Amino acid sequence: MDSILTNPSMVVEDRQRHLFRVSRRAFTDQAVLEAENRNIFDRCWLYLGHSSEIANNCDFITRNVGGRELIFNRDRGGAVHAFLNTCPHRGAMVVREKKGNALAFRCFYHGWSFNVNGRFASRFEEGNYGSEHYGGGCADLAQVPRLESHRDFWFVNFDRNAVSLSDYLAGAKEYIDIVADHAEAGMEIVGSGQQYIINANWKLLAENSIDAFHGFPVHSTYFDYLKTIGSLRMDAGVGSFSASGMHDLGNGHAVIEYASPWGRPVARWVPSWGEDKREVVAQLRAGLIERFGEERGTRIAEFSRNMLIFPNLVINDIMAITIRTFMPSAPDKMTVSAWALGARDEDHELRKLRLFNFLEFLGPGGFATPDDQEALENCQRGYRNMREVGWNDISKGMPRNGPPMNDDEEQMRCFWRQWNERMGGIA
Ligand code: FES
Ligand code: FE
Repeated sequence: MDSILTNPSMVVEDRQRHLFRVSRRAFTDQAVLEAENRNIFDRCWLYLGHSSEIANNCDFITRNVGGRELIFNRDRGGAVHAFLNTCPHRGAMVVREKKGNALAFRCFYHGWSFNVNGRFASRFEEGNYGSEHYGGGCADLAQVPRLESHRDFWFVNFDRNAVSLSDYLAGAKEYIDIVADHAEAGMEIVGSGQQYIINANWKLLAENSIDAFHGFPVHSTYFDYLKTIGSLRMDAGVGSFSASGMHDLGNGHAVIEYASPWGRPVARWVPSWGEDKREVVAQLRAGLIERFGEERGTRIAEFSRNMLIFPNLVINDIMAITIRTFMPSAPDKMTVSAWALGARDEDHELRKLRLFNFLEFLGPGGFATPDDQEALENCQRGYRNMREVGWNDISKGMPRNGPPMNDDEEQMRCFWRQWNERMGGIA
């Protein structure tokens, strides 16, 4: 094991003195990134995609997950597969389109073709290939070692011996369920998603995604704007329920849940949407309460949630729903992929509001994402001073008696403890 992994000082927790420190080398060191690839991205369950993206038989999409090129598809019988997108012949990526519907895949280089269940399907004349190619499996597309799903969210794992997805997700399943329960007809990815690059270490975005502490300092423009256009409802509207707080979901996953002031197309109306939407939203809310009872129905309608599923999946159920993953290509560079999720049978006008909300706050040109990007890249630049100032402080809330607050940093400590454990090779 390389010395960087055995160095106990990358993450330091001193509960007595209420101090939690992370070495800035964790954000800057190439050897750390290589160890993360081996210990985290090669071994954790990673988000692949949503069932709705391959809704019909023979639908496919291609995606880069955990540094690999993958095909995520449905075969002719509707079974879901994840293949490594590399030709068993000489390596070319077999599927080069982003998405489509096909009865077979054909490699453009020498023409080997495959059924959508991955089987080699070329018919070369006798003398070209033997039985190992026809039926022996050596010419089939390789499956990703593990593929499992929870409520239409599909994950892959490159470690054949990993625990089940269900065990891995632990307490996060409850919060995926809350999102999946927004609509009786199910949820769907809207459009094709967005991709952008941030010049910062990937763990800065993991932290930022569940960090309520930065909300007002960084996003004050957004809140001022909402106030101006009448899109803020300061009454909590949540009756006597209180789901607020931060929850450690196990295995490095964490969520913050809170009564939020913005409109939520699932069932929280704000004045700027107009009186005509008020009744539509009231009916949605009544439907949730009928399906789930007063407490859970109100929780789904009114509360917002920011969840991080270790290592790199964010599901933010706020003024819209975003699913985000991010993958490092260097210690100071990551590619972010983001999608909007909405109700499958959503009212046309509410869908418009949802997408507007999404772009307005969560989109790469919205009020939040560029500000967050600036904050993250700013931290990364600050790490140039790491020889003199070598540690991040993630101690907020440690002396608190009672449950952690949303804007404490316990949720980040959950992430870092898991990171530290996996980097030490213990998990
Ligand atoms: Fe695919 Fe040759 S590399 S057919
Ligand atoms: Fe932010």
